[in-house]
Formats: sequence, C-alpha cells, structure tokens
Amino acid sequence: MTRHLDPDETGLKRAAEMLRRGGLVSFPTETVYGLGADASDDAAVARIFDAKGRPSFNPLIVHLPDAEAVEAYCVMDDTARRLAATFWPGALTLVLPIRPYAGISRLVTAGLDTLAVRVPDHPLAQALLRETARPVAAPSANPSGRVSPTTPAHVLAGLGGRIEAVLDGGPCGVGLESTILDCTGVTPALLRAGGLPAEAIEACLGLPLAPPAPTPATAPSAPGQLSSHYAPKGTVRLDAIETEPGETYLGFGPLGAGMNLSRSGDLVEAAANLFDCLHRLDALGAERIAVAPIPDHGLGRAINDRLRRAAAPRR
Ligand code: TXA
Ligand code: MG
Repeated sequence: MTRHLDPDETGLKRAAEMLRRGGLVSFPTETVYGLGADASDDAAVARIFDAKGRPSFNPLIVHLPDAEAVEAYCVMDDTARRLAATFWPGALTLVLPIRPYAGISRLVTAGLDTLAVRVPDHPLAQALLRETARPVAAPSANPSGRVSPTTPAHVLAGLGGRIEAVLDGGPCGVGLESTILDCTGVTPALLRAGGLPAEAIEACLGLPLAPPAPTPATAPSAPGQLSSHYAPKGTVRLDAIETEPGETYLGFGPLGAGMNLSRSGDLVEAAANLFDCLHRLDALGAERIAVAPIPDHGLGRAINDRLRRAAAPRR
C-alpha cells in the first residue's frame, strides 16, 4: 500500500525516515513529482528502476538542498558556479564531473563519470532534503515512457502500490521537468529543454548554448532522449488547427472550445497544465488526440519537445 503523507512536520519526518531506510517516496518539486530514493544506497536506487520499469542505462538526477552540498559530490567550474548562483534553487539540472569516491551509487550514474544534480525550488522538497540529510536520486514519479506527474493523484494512478509513500504538496507550479545542461565541455550544451527557458540561460552566460546532440535510436547518453517518451495512451497529432473524426482536441489560445492548455495563450500557464491535460485525456480514454500549434519560444520549446516525443512512434 502507498501511504499518503500530509505536508506537515509528521509527514516530513516519516518521509525522511522512509528514505533513510531505503524506501521509495514520491515528493513534490516545482517541476514535477519526483520518485525519491537514497542515492548512496544501491538497493534503494535499484528499486526506482524496478518500480518505474526504467531501462537501467538511463541515469538519474540527484537532488541536494544547495550548491554547497553539490560541491561535495561534483566539480564545479566558474561557469557552473555562475549558473548555480543565478538559477538555483530552480528548474535547472547541471551535468558535472563526479568526484571520485563521492559515495553515489553507480546505478545512479549508469556507470558514467558525470553526475546530474539539481537544487529544487519547492519548500517541501527543500525541507525533505534537509531532514533526510542524504543525496536523493529522483526521476519523475511515473512509469517509464508515460506522462510525468504534476499531482499526487497522477503519482498514485501510475505507481500506487509500488512505492512506500507520496508526500502531498498539491499541484506543481512549473509543470515541466527541469532544463538539463551538460557542463562538462567548453560550452554548456542543452541536453533537455525544460522549465527554465534556454533564452534565460544564454542571457546569463552571454553566449549561445551548444545544441543537443541528435536523438540516438538506442542507448541514449542522456536525457529523456528516447524518441517516444512522455506518452499518453492515445496517439497524438501535432499542429492541428481542427479535429478529424474520432479525435479529441487539446487547444491553445483561441483554438479549441474544449480542453485547452491556456485560453489566454500564456506559455507559462500552458506548461503548468500540459501533463495534467494529458493525464485527463488518458482518464477520458481518448484514443486519438489532436494538439493545437504551440509557439516555439520560451517554455514553448520545452512544451513542443514533450509533445513531439508524445507523438513519436511507440516502441
Ligand atoms: O524536473 C526534473 O528534472 C525531475 C524532478 C523530479 O527533479 N526529474 C526528472 O528526472 O525529470 P528524469 O529521470 O525523469 O530525467 C532525468 C534525465 C534523464 O533523461 C537522464 O538521461 C538525464 O536526466 N541524465 C541523468 N544523469 C545524466 C548524466 N550524467 N548525463 C547526461 N544526462 C543525464
Ligand atoms: Mg522522466
């Protein structure tokens, strides 16, 4: 049975205790709900892969309360420090060289000599990380390949019965996974568009980011790079101005009278609503989903990335 934990002192203490004992606890972040486990405990991390049905070559993000804690596990150069000072806590994950003997399970890095780290900007996530006092590995709390959860109900619908508990922080504010930057090369490279717009990062660095490597067909070196991912049960058709027979429409702005990502055409609101709309379409049994065009700037780039993967041929 999966426990529902209230966002109070008792709930936090219980969640931390479960994590320290090797349990799996889903917790809210500002992006999506994570499926947490003690990143230094091989058995606990192995259970994440098992609960999600996740291919073990896909490495995990480690969550820490602040940049100082990150320095204990990773090597940060000036660029990484500047990004951390500007955007942490927040929806940015940095891939950094891991320190030898850092104490992180090899299952977390999938054998790479880099570590993906993030400092989440959510009061419950912060409190949980401090109370647990361990590095917490956390992928999104959904079965592998499916839509990420932005509410406790989404978590329970996908993983109920397979994890110890979900800490209830209500709906996530950002609603899209973090932006992932590879900071191991000369110029930081965008590995996954996400909740922090690439434009903001480029403005901070004063230079353009290296583009993501083309999506490999197998054995991705990184991020949500499997071409089919974030998929609802129904098929997805993109850039649809109107529906064809049998389709359910997901609108944006003035397009679409039914379900709509943001009637006012606000990309921040659309990002926050995207996964909830896809979960609701699943619950409605929608077999064919047609999605309105979404502008490809700011958070629209991450929204379109997720939608393209949702529309990709399934394995
Ligand atoms: O917003 C988020 O990032 C959420 C919340 C829970 O923090 N987490 C999340 O985790 O989206 P996940 O596991 O669903 O996605 C992590 C991505 C994966 O696609 C993985 O390939 C990539 O991060 N990744 C992890 N470690 C990496 C590394 N060392 N090098 C390159 N990519 C890495
Ligand atoms: Mg995920």
